[in-house]
Amino acid sequence: MKVAYTVQEVREQVKEWRKEGLTVGLVPTMGYLHEGHASLMKKAVEENDRVVVSVFVNPTQFAPTEDLESYPRDLEKDCALCESIGVSLVFHPEPEEMYAPDFCTWVDMDVLSKTLCGKSRPIHFRGVCTVVSKLFHIVTPDKAYFGQKDAQQLAIIRRMVRDLNMDIEIVGCPIVREEDGLAKSSRNTYLNEEERKAALILSKSIFLGQKMVEEGETDAAKVKAAMVANIETEPLAKIDYVEIVDGMSMQPIETIKTPILAAMAVYIGKTRLIDNFIL
Ligand code: PAJ
Repeated sequence: MKVAYTVQEVREQVKEWRKEGLTVGLVPTMGYLHEGHASLMKKAVEENDRVVVSVFVNPTQFAPTEDLESYPRDLEKDCALCESIGVSLVFHPEPEEMYAPDFCTWVDMDVLSKTLCGKSRPIHFRGVCTVVSKLFHIVTPDKAYFGQKDAQQLAIIRRMVRDLNMDIEIVGCPIVREEDGLAKSSRNTYLNEEERKAALILSKSIFLGQKMVEEGETDAAKVKAAMVANIETEPLAKIDYVEIVDGMSMQPIETIKTPILAAMAVYIGKTRLIDNFIL
């Protein structure tokens, strides 16, 4: 397995693979890799001749008040995991390699990026769309892999690829959870012991909402109210949002009719965690 730090190194490697007629898969990440990321990487290794994993904490998707500086990083451990899964290349650029000092071109989106996480993180999806577009242009993969853990991000990437005619197949992968239900996240490392226990309220209320819908409840407000009430039983939890939206447009709905996304962002202490279910 190779580690590339520059765009040029990636381009040269991919060119060689293309000469041999090999297919290429891409798994974009911000590193501090866990089993959630590993599930994407494993699927990519199964489905492509060569797999590139990008490890880049993308500054343009963080607001100045957010955790860009403190976001956990461990390249050595990340590379060991990538290698053990059969990844061919890790792309780990410095921010200066990705963003020239006078960088001023953005990929942005209306509608889908304005609700849920886009409401509390107004510049977030512009940063995501821009960096993912750049990675797509640098790696030119046949397929790219994204987790349903970030369901709005996945919907946005699918829409971007459709709207901008990018010739890349987007593969969505299910949420990987801890044994007790907590969705795996690099940010879980911020939680102390007490907060780690309190964080279980997210998956508990996700499972509660999912059960109501599976048992036939079609009133979105009722499902949402039950989920909110459940979260409010946890004193350390502060709700950012709980919403039930149309699974394609990300706009709120009144009556539950598939496809839907039920999503939440909840602060546990200072840590903002997300979880969701789709139907
Ligand atoms: P990051 O949070 O590192 O996540 C990288 C990919 O792993 C995303 O597609 C995310 O949905 C997936 N993932 C994370 N936790 C998961 C879990 N528990 N189960 C399944 N998949 C999981 O998402 C980003 O990075 C960035 O926004 C990025 C797309 C790399 C752009 O900077």
